[in-house]
Amino acid sequence: EVSKKGNHRNSERFSTGIGVLMATLGSAVGLGNIWKFPYLTGSNGGAAFLIVYIICTILVGFPILVAEHMLGRKGRGDAVSTFENVAPKSAWWVIGASGILAAFLIMAFYTEVAGWVFAYVFKSFGSGLLSTDPEVTSSIFASLVSNPVQSLIWQWIVLAVVGAIIMLGVAKGIEGTTKRLLPILALLLIIIGIRSITLPGAGQGLSFLFKPDFSKITAPVILTAMGLAFFKLSIGMGCMLTYGSYYSEDQNIPKNAARVVAADLTVSILAGIAIFPAVFSFGFEPAAGTQLLFITIPSVFASMPLGGVFMVAFFLLTAFAAIGAMISLVEVVVAFLVNRTKLGRKKSTLITVVSMAVVGSLAALSNSTMANVTVFGKTFFDLYDYVSSNILLPVGGLMIAIFATWVWGWPRFKEALSNNGALANEGVLKAVYNILKFVSPVLVAIILLTGLNIVHI
Ligand code: PFF
Repeated sequence: EVSKKGNHRNSERFSTGIGVLMATLGSAVGLGNIWKFPYLTGSNGGAAFLIVYIICTILVGFPILVAEHMLGRKGRGDAVSTFENVAPKSAWWVIGASGILAAFLIMAFYTEVAGWVFAYVFKSFGSGLLSTDPEVTSSIFASLVSNPVQSLIWQWIVLAVVGAIIMLGVAKGIEGTTKRLLPILALLLIIIGIRSITLPGAGQGLSFLFKPDFSKITAPVILTAMGLAFFKLSIGMGCMLTYGSYYSEDQNIPKNAARVVAADLTVSILAGIAIFPAVFSFGFEPAAGTQLLFITIPSVFASMPLGGVFMVAFFLLTAFAAIGAMISLVEVVVAFLVNRTKLGRKKSTLITVVSMAVVGSLAALSNSTMANVTVFGKTFFDLYDYVSSNILLPVGGLMIAIFATWVWGWPRFKEALSNNGALANEGVLKAVYNILKFVSPVLVAIILLTGLNIVHI
């Protein structure tokens, strides 16, 4: 939509209050909780990593999430247009452009992992996966990822599904799909968690997850934890800006954001409780990396009654959670194209999804054909992940924090978040503002500079 001023503004809105919460959660909750959080926690020392991650979420993630929703609602545009609307004739739109790049890089590896999840839904119907032997479950995973044809096809299936949902439009497509499924996913994680902590030797897994050993904390580990905080909340790249543009004027943004953060953390911790006790009970390696979810979870199911049925449900729900997150990633690019071109929603979606398949194929083949092709010592899969989570999102978030406070300033911040004075919570707003102004940017800058080895402390 082009408004009178010639700016590119969105006219679609989320229809209900609960729809807003669920749609936002639909973007936040995904493979980040169920796949990435456990594998990073496993490879970076367990509880100490979890604590650093939670601190980053509260001091950096939450305030930036609030700022993005606020600016998104004010600007009512896509990632780029929002900045042009709230800061005309300036270069702030570059943040949105970097977000569009990040959306591509994230989708490139995300669709591959989602493809593994889809494949596991089908594998769960057979009995082959149900084994408590690490060798068996590892080799099943290895044979999937080392097959280039399967890897590509699963990735394309994932992209086709997401593209089809996006074409249905914002309110129907996004709210409808996500809102029913999240509670069921949480319930299932609780059931798996109960089985996991009642396995013999489960206690070791719980200490790994909850008893910190701070000697594990290094600058790169802190950067990884902060990158995860950004990735988890879908911030620093215009995704939550785009979602904010669909928020109605009477939404309580800080409250909604606080709920999103709490629910998202809960799901991650539940996933950790489901996975780590089993890791230690069956003798898996917590630092197994990207395959952790796929080798441990089948063993938990193998050791419980009706495990096969639960396993189908688990991978199916994980697939749905992944779809909710991918919808929001694709939406960043599609919203931009719809606003900026005459292509329309359908064609924009098609073009986006096809280009993601091209960029993504390099990640899909990272475990097979292109396993030896590396840039800076990383496969394309790892490179896309590293550059997006650990560089693009933090830099984007840093800029958003600076813009919302140092450039926009307190009066506008207060007016926007109190819904023009309708919400009387000035103390809370001032606290969020001050953290966003003085704490978040400083933390992000220090963590980036030391984690990337640019500055030594
Ligand atoms: N937050 C999602 C997850 O944790 O799975 C991933 C994600 C979605 C990142 C959307 C970025 C984004 F814009």
